[in-house]
Amino acid sequence: MQVSIPREVLPGERRVAATPESVKKLIAMGFTVHVERGAGALAALPDRLYEAAGATMVDDPWKGARVVLKVRPPAERHDGTHERELIPEGALLVSFLWPARNADLVAHLASRHVDALAIDMIPRISRAQKMDALSSMANIAGYRAVIEAAHHFGSFFCGQMTAAGKVSPAKVLVIGAGVAGLAALGTAKGLGAVVRAFDTRAAVREQVQSMGAEFLEVTVAEDGEGGGGYAKEMSPAFIEAEMALFRAQAREVDIVITTALIPNRPAPKLWLRDMVEAMRPGSVVVDLAAESGGNCELTVPDEVVVHQGVTILGRTDLTSRLATTASQLYANNLVHLLTDMGGGALTIRLDDEVVRGALVAHEGRVLEPPPRVAVSKAETKTDTKTVAKTETKTDTKTETVAKTETKSAHGHGHGAAPAGGERVSWMTWAAIGGLAAAWIAMRAGVGPFAHEADASLRLFAERVTVFVLSCFVGWQVIWNVSPALHTPLMSVTNAISGIILVGGMLHLRGAELGAAGWLGVVAVLLATINVAGGFLVTRRMLAMFRK
Ligand code: NAI
Repeated sequence: MQVSIPREVLPGERRVAATPESVKKLIAMGFTVHVERGAGALAALPDRLYEAAGATMVDDPWKGARVVLKVRPPAERHDGTHERELIPEGALLVSFLWPARNADLVAHLASRHVDALAIDMIPRISRAQKMDALSSMANIAGYRAVIEAAHHFGSFFCGQMTAAGKVSPAKVLVIGAGVAGLAALGTAKGLGAVVRAFDTRAAVREQVQSMGAEFLEVTVAEDGEGGGGYAKEMSPAFIEAEMALFRAQAREVDIVITTALIPNRPAPKLWLRDMVEAMRPGSVVVDLAAESGGNCELTVPDEVVVHQGVTILGRTDLTSRLATTASQLYANNLVHLLTDMGGGALTIRLDDEVVRGALVAHEGRVLEPPPRVAVSKAETKTDTKTVAKTETKTDTKTETVAKTETKSAHGHGHGAAPAGGERVSWMTWAAIGGLAAAWIAMRAGVGPFAHEADASLRLFAERVTVFVLSCFVGWQVIWNVSPALHTPLMSVTNAISGIILVGGMLHLRGAELGAAGWLGVVAVLLATINVAGGFLVTRRMLAMFRK
């Protein structure tokens, strides 16, 4: 199956959808790879590296393509032709597509029977993290936003005490602590600035604080969690309080980095003209939301505006400014996606929630986006708690609480965990109680056990009791572990599997293979699979940290 990588045509776009490393992986999966000559030139990836990796360098990458990998949505080329006409019928296109903004393009692709997978629609769930190009690009954009700000700012980020005088550290305000915001916050902190951040989602407070920044809050209690880790539109009362907070901050901060985003809405206007005018001359505003209208009222996309001495950067190509790394991470995202789709034997499975979430055109039809999948059980839990707390404070919360409850009751996947969790614990305690009563009755020789004389049966019953109890205790312990701790948990389960392995082998010592012996065989088999699998996964994870 042929995978093609065309050169990006949008002016200023320096990224490329495959690197020599990713080409090697694609070939190992069973694809043949055609790369347009010069595709990686602007990302410091010359043709000879692709050739050495096994790619065929071509002038026309569209010919014979079954899968087309791109960064930007199909666009008009320099010769006047349009990329959307060049993708062969029946082929699969994987690229950023922004279907909400590009409905015509998606409809056109569907009409030409091109299957289109919008990488920007990959659901932000744990399993899809490795394919989440929005996050990998936002991380780069957040970092680069600080570097751009530093470039236009006339002072140090860190404070300095020199013989020539004292320089105060820069004060940085990050609005929106999502992926880009947290990356910006970490970078500014790393450069030594005093950093504060604001977000409507209470769930990010801990993340901001754990990075050493101050989390600003308003007096109006309302949680901005709109489901799936994304924000919802806030009430007018909240926005008013937010504006008052920003007006006060405008007089203090030197650098503002805005990253606020609500899915499928124009960017909320949060840094208004009067706030810019209240800032000290020499201050800098970097508006990451420039492409979707901007969070700052004075932002002009792709331009540097200077208003009363304050510089406002509306860069929309922040990721392209780190083209080599951005290409590398984006190409890795695509390799992971294609691996999950079956590699060289690629199939489009609509029952795969990741593929279905991102598939916007299939077999000649435009597909409606499916409901968003919740990010993780842990976040849903925090959300429920936070909202429950705010309920007592003001009336406006009732509606939010109702929504959260509905989400818990009707949610699917991880989102339904709290309701499921309650049911599980009720059943657990009932089962434990029943077993404990049976055990006591048996030991005391009362009830149905009054005439029980068979010692081996009693021993068997005791062992079953221990087995069932350990199943329930294990289930309870593991179910309640926060997703962030799943890696250390894996080491613990490996150790437990080790014990099971030894226990099973001890049972197998005798030559006879009775019921206990067969149980031993099964235990040894399952525990071995668990231990070996655990080590394999750990090895893969450790490899990610090796240089
Ligand atoms: P995200 O969804 O992870 O984060 C956005 C954050 O904004 C959320 O935490 C949300 O709660 C918060 N937010 C929403 N309304 C708010 C309000 N009224 N006040 C304060 N916070 C609010 O999004 P991500 O991935 O971090 O991207 C952020 C922005 O960066 C997006 O607009 C994205 O398009 C842009 N971006 C820009 C690039 C560029 O080159 N300029 C490159 C990559 C991303």
